[in-house]
Amino acid sequence: MWTKENLFELVQEKLRDYMFIVVSNREPYSHVYSARKIVWEVPASGLTVALDPVMRACGGTWIAHGSGDADAEVVDKDNKVGVPPNEPRYSLKRIWLSKKEEEGYYYGFSNQALWPLCHIVYTRPVFNESDWNTYKQVNELFARAVLEEVGQRKAFVFIQDYHLALLAKLIKDANPNIITALFWHIPWPNPEVFRICPWQDEILKGLLSNNLLGFHIRYHCNNFLETVDRSLETRIDRESHEVIHSGKKTSVQPFPISVDFEAISRHAQSAEVKAEMENLRARLGLDNGEIIGAGLDRIDYTKGIPDRLRAIDRFFEKFPEYRKRMVFIQAGVASRVRIPSYQAINEEIDSLEWEINWKHGTGHWKPIIHLREHMSPDALMALRRLAHFFVVSSLHDGMNLVAKEFVASRFDEDGVLILSSFTGAARELGDAVLVNPFATDHFAEAIKTAIEMPEAERQRRMRKMRELVQENNIYKWAADMISDLVKFEFGES
Ligand code: G6P
Repeated sequence: MWTKENLFELVQEKLRDYMFIVVSNREPYSHVYSARKIVWEVPASGLTVALDPVMRACGGTWIAHGSGDADAEVVDKDNKVGVPPNEPRYSLKRIWLSKKEEEGYYYGFSNQALWPLCHIVYTRPVFNESDWNTYKQVNELFARAVLEEVGQRKAFVFIQDYHLALLAKLIKDANPNIITALFWHIPWPNPEVFRICPWQDEILKGLLSNNLLGFHIRYHCNNFLETVDRSLETRIDRESHEVIHSGKKTSVQPFPISVDFEAISRHAQSAEVKAEMENLRARLGLDNGEIIGAGLDRIDYTKGIPDRLRAIDRFFEKFPEYRKRMVFIQAGVASRVRIPSYQAINEEIDSLEWEINWKHGTGHWKPIIHLREHMSPDALMALRRLAHFFVVSSLHDGMNLVAKEFVASRFDEDGVLILSSFTGAARELGDAVLVNPFATDHFAEAIKTAIEMPEAERQRRMRKMRELVQENNIYKWAADMISDLVKFEFGES
């Protein structure tokens, strides 16, 4: 089994002479003002949840946008700060963006064009030429930071996600000796969908500048290869999943991302989490008897939160015997709220919750409790542990690490996961209760199935899912990518 120790050994052995650099838009830790004091926070992002343990094990430098309002206060002259802030293991180098850059690159092209384009959830992408130009400029800014950091040394640069699709090309144009891999954390749609992007060719060329390109599942790799095939002059080897473009080779492979199973499982067992479970119960007026359902999401229109609420509504309509016996706790982290489609989803969730609580609530019992405040890692873990059933209902999702975090946290081998079949995670977690979030009646019945599942069956399923996540953990993901890269780039077998 892969652990942080043997991942460290692999990196020492294979990448001994190389600098190890991760680049992403989102930073793993941000510093913010709380009243007049500076505190640090961990942003809500599957990407940072996954990469932070890898960087703790490997060391090196992580380059990312400094988005916290106190970020600039704590860095040195090279814009670096040691992280995790309480026990530094690697270096975070922050890049500064003006509001105009953030607007066009992050809120604009990344999150109003590429994000809805790649997730098939019927939100129309917005293609704005000035956003695209800013996206290119910001990719150049990241490239300059990488090149500065590398200097004349040998380096392996591990690029993350759709914000930085052009980065590898910009790096390699300046220094072809740098090795790059990019992991695309979101789905890749089929060619018919992707071809509406006016700058499709530049994006594909940018991505094909990487030595290795990773997606969560084979299906996304195939969609990508089809997209390339229909738009660029390339040679595609369908056996080895390699693309030859302008004389250069890119390997396109699936690497299902994961979580630090052992660390999560250990945290779930801590005394602090136990105390938080009591706190949460007392604060929410839960007296031990009720069935608790939970959802824990970044508030995004891809996560299927209204669909889940509609299923809960239908559940109480169909099975009124559960009124006053079941409570659903939705914890949500606000996200990208400057974008109109995100404002709309927040309003839709508010009004649905209000309506459902009005329709089914009696006395002090309300079927839905929405926790909007910032919750500590202990409180979030307490919520996972309190849940009899836990819902992940994305309409489309590359992987969804919230589902794997839930599994890793249930060391008691209890709790039922209700999981959308449109997540990458559903390919691995077949022992969850799988649902189509668009099919409200079937979803409502799945909630009943989860609630009524006998204990032995719950345990059997949870045990199998835990074995799987334990084995296919985040260290295996990183080791697989590094081994693959090393194999074809350094000619090893
Ligand atoms: C998804 C993306 C990540 C991103 C995260 C949070 O998981 O794949 O790249 O970091 O959402 O979104 P945000 O815009 O807050 O970084």
